[in-house]
Amino acid sequence: MKRLTTFILALAVSFQAFADEGMWLPNLIARRIDDMGAKGCRLSAEDIYSINKASLKDAVLLFGSGCTGELVSPNGLLFTNHHCGYSFIQRHSSVEHDYLKDGFWAMSQSEELPNPGLTVSFLERMEDVTDVILYGWEPSMGDAARDSVARANSARLEKEVAVPSKGIRASVEALYYANQYYLFVFRVYRDVRLVGAPPSSIGKFGGDTDNWMWPRHTGDFSIFRIYTAPDGSPADYSPDNIPYRPRKYFSISRAGVKEGDFTFVYGCPGSTREYVFSDEVRYIGEVSDPQKIALRTKRLEIQKKYMSQSQAVRIQYSAKNASVSNAWKKWQGESGGVRRLGTVEAKRAYERRFAQWAARGPYEGLTERLAAIYARREPLYLAYEYFNETIRSVEILSFAWSVHSALELKRPVESMAKGFYKDYYRPIDEEIFAAMLDAYRSNMSGDYQPAYFKEQLALYGSVEAWRDALFASSIFSNPDAVKALTPSDIAKVEADPAYKLYKAFRDWLDADIMPELHAIDGELRAANRQYMRAQMEFEPERDFYPDANLTLRVAYGKVAGYSPSDAVYYAPVSTLKGIMEKDNPDIFDYNIPQVLRDIYAEGGHEKQPVCFLATNHTTGGNSGSPVLNADGHLVGINFDRVWEGTMSDLVFDPDYCRNISLDVRYLLFVIENVGHADWLFKEMDFK
Ligand code: ARG
Ligand code: ASP
Repeated sequence: MKRLTTFILALAVSFQAFADEGMWLPNLIARRIDDMGAKGCRLSAEDIYSINKASLKDAVLLFGSGCTGELVSPNGLLFTNHHCGYSFIQRHSSVEHDYLKDGFWAMSQSEELPNPGLTVSFLERMEDVTDVILYGWEPSMGDAARDSVARANSARLEKEVAVPSKGIRASVEALYYANQYYLFVFRVYRDVRLVGAPPSSIGKFGGDTDNWMWPRHTGDFSIFRIYTAPDGSPADYSPDNIPYRPRKYFSISRAGVKEGDFTFVYGCPGSTREYVFSDEVRYIGEVSDPQKIALRTKRLEIQKKYMSQSQAVRIQYSAKNASVSNAWKKWQGESGGVRRLGTVEAKRAYERRFAQWAARGPYEGLTERLAAIYARREPLYLAYEYFNETIRSVEILSFAWSVHSALELKRPVESMAKGFYKDYYRPIDEEIFAAMLDAYRSNMSGDYQPAYFKEQLALYGSVEAWRDALFASSIFSNPDAVKALTPSDIAKVEADPAYKLYKAFRDWLDADIMPELHAIDGELRAANRQYMRAQMEFEPERDFYPDANLTLRVAYGKVAGYSPSDAVYYAPVSTLKGIMEKDNPDIFDYNIPQVLRDIYAEGGHEKQPVCFLATNHTTGGNSGSPVLNADGHLVGINFDRVWEGTMSDLVFDPDYCRNISLDVRYLLFVIENVGHADWLFKEMDFK
């Protein structure tokens, strides 16, 4: 327990500031408030987070399970991104009412559309529960016991605190590599209705061409409303429900932003790894990212080729293509960013200084231990990642596996098959099959090839011949036959060549890769926990924010442009003029709705702001987060980062790391001029 006490002491001291880097715990924001004030913020720590009075935290919500949203009216109205509401907008869309394409605008509360399955969660409170979670554990019991004690105590505490009938959910999360545990208590609402969404040609303007990039002109927002039972409690959808009455909602600033203005982002960043050992960064930047990028470049080329030949295929593959492309582009920025910054070398230099400090103390030998663990882990983890990006990305193979699992559980497969084949185009999958298997054969050594894979390759002589035989004989090439499968047909699936190939890989992973990988990961967790604690002792002056884990955080910085390369400077604010410059009816991503052209032609809108850049430290999950000014008023909605800065998940560079936000004034402009839904303005509070 002694070391834990030192650790907590280390946390309690107040520290120097690092330029705009950091995702801070809101309950400890008092530690940052002086620095925030020096940078222009006019709020108190209690304004931002309080459990005694209404504070800004009461207006921030987790939207679904991976985005953020914010309340903007006393009637439960909320904003999030278009890409966060996308699947719900899609579910309400049909050929007659294509809300994705044309947009959707409720003209009264009675026209708002329910979304079963969608929840929003508000944080009630968060607190350090480390002592409770580690109760019953002593260092002499070892690391494995620590994990299992923590797991059992967490489950017990979560159960104790949760009140399902009142929508109260509790979760215990590990911070600082499980040196600390926090309890998060949420109120979860289940009746969340779609109020408005712009046409995709605004909400997704620029598509994957502009994704992760600046200059950006995407109107990436959608609007929802939360409803409760008449007594105000969370409830399933019912026509009798009433709009949610929040404790707090954001006022909207119409004053806008300019270069240098203080801003902060209040939201739920998903995952970062700022404190990891140099070898992990080297693996990500030099091995994993480049390999995955190369594989995805092939997949994207194949998809694009067929998508450009047929409108129907373009629709079938647009969501799949977007998700393959999203990470593909992010990884390019990430590996380029750590290379440019020399992060691996910088970490190694830091580790040498650390090792000197650690000599003859309790952390002696820790860096060597980490290096040895990573060396054993790397080939195994690469094989696992390579499997995911090759074999698993062939649709027919992973689908064969899913069908088998469903049949094993005696589940019907008809609707699953319908969903799969609706968006399946066999020529794409055949080409991807050949490309991915070929990549696997050439890039993974024989030791990492399952025996079945080698046998079949030898049998057919080439991946193409194997492919032709497999697609010709597999039942999964025949949608009607798959839809008709019942649990008694399971043997038929087990004899199928698509299933057999996938299963051969799964069996090989389960036997030769995963058990060892899991054991190493256990060692790594323990070593990382020590290394985190040791770094905090090594640098007692530095304020360490915990890595992101989808818990609520505050990031602050200022509106700022950047220079992506020599002789180029990007200004931080984009305008409607830029949309008109990109407008091109022949390019899908840049074809704007006619109404926007007409409004622009009226004149006077050239300077209408659309998006802006700032130095706030954000990541995936921060999409939809409120971007607030010095008074805590809403000035934007966060939705992306610039790709030269996507290494911010590993290392933050103030010169390149910028978050991209939609200017809230463009949102208002679209509501008014495109949606004609200005009835919504009546419930908003403008500053
Ligand atoms: N890049 C942003 C994020 O990581 C936006 C993604 C929207 N999807 C897309 N493929 N354009 O999530
Ligand atoms: N676009 C991301 C999201 O959806 C945000 C980011 O990665 O910056 O959360």
